[in-house]
Amino acid sequence: MSLAAAIALLLSLSLFFAGPVVCWRPWPQPHNSTDLLYGGSKKYEGSSEFVHLRYHMGPVLTANITVYPIWYGTWQSSQKRIIREFIDSLSAADAKPPSVAAWWKTVQLYTDQTGSNTSGNVRVGEQKNDRFYSHGKSLTRLSVQSVIKSAVSATTRPLPINPKSGVYLLLTSDDVYVENFCNNVCGFHYFTFPSIVGYTLPYAWVGNSAKLCPGVCAYPFAVPDYIPGLKAVKSPNGDVGVEGMISVIAHEIAELATNPLVNAWYAGQDPVAPVEIADLCEGIYGTGGGGSYTGQMLNGRDGATYNMNGIRRRFLVQWVWNHVLNYCTGPNALDH
Ligand SMILES: *[C@@H]1O[C@H](CO)[C@@H](O)[C@H](O)[C@H]1NC(C)=O
Ligand SMILES: *[C@@H]1O[C@H](CO)[C@@H](O)[C@H](O)[C@H]1NC(C)=O
Ligand SMILES: *[C@@H]1O[C@H](CO)[C@@H](O)[C@H](O)[C@H]1NC(C)=O
Repeated sequence: MSLAAAIALLLSLSLFFAGPVVCWRPWPQPHNSTDLLYGGSKKYEGSSEFVHLRYHMGPVLTANITVYPIWYGTWQSSQKRIIREFIDSLSAADAKPPSVAAWWKTVQLYTDQTGSNTSGNVRVGEQKNDRFYSHGKSLTRLSVQSVIKSAVSATTRPLPINPKSGVYLLLTSDDVYVENFCNNVCGFHYFTFPSIVGYTLPYAWVGNSAKLCPGVCAYPFAVPDYIPGLKAVKSPNGDVGVEGMISVIAHEIAELATNPLVNAWYAGQDPVAPVEIADLCEGIYGTGGGGSYTGQMLNGRDGATYNMNGIRRRFLVQWVWNHVLNYCTGPNALDH
């Protein structure tokens, strides 16, 4: 093996063992990273002076973004529709305020080296069904990449190869376990390794937690058993598992768009554990949010809780970090 090959192997091995770096649960958080970031300051809706979100010179998704859903396992068409309509809402300017599209405007504030903004156009592209659990009902972080490989190399209707503006979104049904799911992980994003998939493709995984841990990953539509007295709120579309996924999907797409190769926008010293634009606002859905309080949300006449409108439906989505204002923002913010 040449020296160059040895170095390449070492590099790919270190990447290999580092694994996907970005994981997320909506709340409650057992860890202490926010305390670290925010230092002594407890001014919530995020905080300003202690957060040093920086641009690390890598690409952001500036071209029209196409999301390719991979439906792994058993999915009802009504469930798929909720998720597709959310993604299509990201650039639907005509939705009633506070809108999902206005939420995405904060993501558009992030630029690359040339000053180009993250794209304001996001659409759902080709989709792939993996109905028969091609890699089983328990996936590891590496077998997740093999599922994506199967989807882009299928003999019938493979997903297109789109490394520059594609987002490969692996969605697992409620009977599928993914490594660390529920144990503080509800989703993650990363990029595929050429050694496994053949290409470097930005991807995310988000799981339906309805059977395994709705209190962890579909909060606040479900609440954890270990917190007595906490009451779940009513979801707007009648599917707690899927609606819990919406905020996680939003979180991951926002981070993929602004940090697709994990070398663009993040805070913290450690690129192996970057803190990205949605991590900074975990669990914040409205004005006053922070700590264990979600912030002010909206209540429909039907009793459902949400904070923004899509094309045809209402959704509850966490806020994201606005690096111009230096705090978390969302379309339902009340004026102070
Ligand atoms: C987080 O860390 C601070 C010290 O930095 C400590 O006072 C606090 O109790 C910790 N919170 C949790 C939830 O462990
Ligand atoms: C990007 O999307 C916009 C809005 O859908 C469309 O008008 C434009 O033609 C697209 N650009 C490219 C290069 O596909
Ligand atoms: C692009 O980003 C810059 C810097 O954050 C911001 O001032 C500008 O409004 C953004 N443009 C769009 C179209 O979002």
